[in-house]
Amino acid sequence: MEGDFVPVPVFSLRLREQLYYLLEDESVPTITFVRENKQVEVPEGDSVRYPALENDVPVYCGLWKFANCHGNGLCGTDRVIVSPSSNTNPLTPFEKFWLRNDLKKTPNIRLSCQVQVFGDVNVDTRCG
Ligand code: FES
Repeated sequence: MEGDFVPVPVFSLRLREQLYYLLEDESVPTITFVRENKQVEVPEGDSVRYPALENDVPVYCGLWKFANCHGNGLCGTDRVIVSPSSNTNPLTPFEKFWLRNDLKKTPNIRLSCQVQVFGDVNVDTRCG
């Protein structure tokens, strides 16, 4: 019937990604949080921040737990070390800005909200 309202389920982008990932029969990246001894399977292209927070893995130190930009790349407080870098996206402009002083000393340092995972990675958190 033309013009009838057809309700369409509304899913959050995150839930849609997870459903898509569950329906696909492909290998999925695993994030290993080394200090916490936790492994989490994630959809390809997922960031590290949400899987960390969903599994009680701390990515923020001290007061930054409350005063951060909630994953928008604007505060530079969610620093983690991710390896191998070949299984991640290149540094984003936000990361180049926030990490500019640390990259020479720690080349695998990333912002957990900006790094995307395309294969298995190990993640070292820096506080907890
Ligand atoms: S949460 Fe602010 S830069 Fe990642």
